[in-house]
Amino acid sequence: MKPKIIKVSKISPDQSVICILGKDEIPDTLRLSKTEKAYALKQLKSKEEIVFINSYFKVTYLVRVKENATVSKAKEDVRRAASGMKKLIKANNLTDLVITSSQTYKGAIEDFAEGLILSIYSFDKYRTKDEDEKKTDYPSCLLLFGDAGEAEIRWLADLTEAVYFVRDLINEPVNHLNAVTLASEIQKIGKSAGFKVDVLNKGKIEALKMGGLLAVNKGSIDPPVFCILEWKPEKHLNKQPIILVGKGIVYDTGGLNIKTGDYMNNMKGDMAGAATVTGVFYTIAKNNIPLHIIGLVPATDNRPGGNAYAQGDIIKMHNKMTVEVGNTDAEGRLILADAISYASRYEPKLIIDIATLTGSAALTFGNQAIAMMTNADRKYIKLLEECGYLVHERIAELPFWDEYGELIKSDIADVKNVGGREAGAITAGKFLEKFAKFPLIHLDIAGTGMLAKDDFYRLKDGPGSGLRLLATFLKRLAADYKKMK
Ligand code: BES
Ligand code: ZN
Ligand code: ZN
Repeated sequence: MKPKIIKVSKISPDQSVICILGKDEIPDTLRLSKTEKAYALKQLKSKEEIVFINSYFKVTYLVRVKENATVSKAKEDVRRAASGMKKLIKANNLTDLVITSSQTYKGAIEDFAEGLILSIYSFDKYRTKDEDEKKTDYPSCLLLFGDAGEAEIRWLADLTEAVYFVRDLINEPVNHLNAVTLASEIQKIGKSAGFKVDVLNKGKIEALKMGGLLAVNKGSIDPPVFCILEWKPEKHLNKQPIILVGKGIVYDTGGLNIKTGDYMNNMKGDMAGAATVTGVFYTIAKNNIPLHIIGLVPATDNRPGGNAYAQGDIIKMHNKMTVEVGNTDAEGRLILADAISYASRYEPKLIIDIATLTGSAALTFGNQAIAMMTNADRKYIKLLEECGYLVHERIAELPFWDEYGELIKSDIADVKNVGGREAGAITAGKFLEKFAKFPLIHLDIAGTGMLAKDDFYRLKDGPGSGLRLLATFLKRLAADYKKMK
């Protein structure tokens, strides 16, 4: 269970507390006895970073953080410190826990809470828990004592809530989550947050002639869906909407060009982009961010079958372009291309797509950066980059020169869905760009969207990559619009 976050105006004597310290000094608010204080200071001076004091009714944890050259580095240190303490906190089996800070930066208590909440997530709905694990638990309430404002707390609560259900969606296997059930999950989330969700069924997708999505779906026993999410508050500040597109491949076998060896591992998470878009909408709607945004989620599984699309097929896309299928495993760009082409009808200011698109992106940056390619105005990229550092979901840009577009030329159709072995992440991006009539930011989360092991609070399997990045980006963009008014 995700703990609640509550702002408090005092610390009671019997409450367990975590205090983040910027200096080797202990504030009086912690009400430690003289001997406890002396002990703690001695530990801190001997370079102990975490000190904890067990009193009769409560535990007091002191976390000493170092000074950092940048704000973003300091914030990440605090989140990581929180994740490092999760076992210690669990062992104490507390019902609630106060988080406070002393002589550190503004926002440290929220960052600590965020790091802790994101670290204690677990996907255990299919596990029959053994008794040992049931004996202790994490606190169900985090009480923030300090300078955190109501709006910041609200944002943190909704953002972490969104990360939790995005992770749930990604971690759900395909035998429990197909395209149709993904759409109904998105509808549920839309209802709870107050954004609109339209689900186009196979008939509508056929009528729209979305040849990419239909081709990928041909081998499936389940129909495809195309979800349209919309958040349009009365007082939105942008005339032209911002469009988010998320790859919703609920399982990627590769299709007839089937994935061999262990390459199918984790392919239930090939809808991480779709889940992330949904999570961004949840956060933005819950916080009433004054932007008009539209989300497009094409979804299906990709598998072989009697009627599956084949290498060599030529398909006609939503925008009437023809595509030679060079590989059925390059399915993501086919469904995204239809969505990006569909986006034109809204005359958007900006299109951002997010997708577990290429092994090449994962090979290039490992799990440390989201691969970004773009033809959009640099002012957006600067902001996105900055948000990436702040939330530690960093983007790394790949070149997007025209020459890379040459690699996906086809002799028999307008374009081919694969280039050669070279520059695989870039040619995938170039393919998408051909369908975009408006500025595009392409985010490839193949490296960050599914993790083999925990990386601090970024938990293994689906960590929810790109959600904190995009939600923060849009919030900041709204603030920029406001300034311009
Ligand atoms: N979903 C995969 C990309 C992927 C690979 C995501 C590993 C996460 C981890 C995508 O649909 C795919 O199979 N891409 C192929 C493209 C190739 C056939 C041109 C790839 O990258 O190997
Ligand atoms: Zn694939
Ligand atoms: Zn895929």
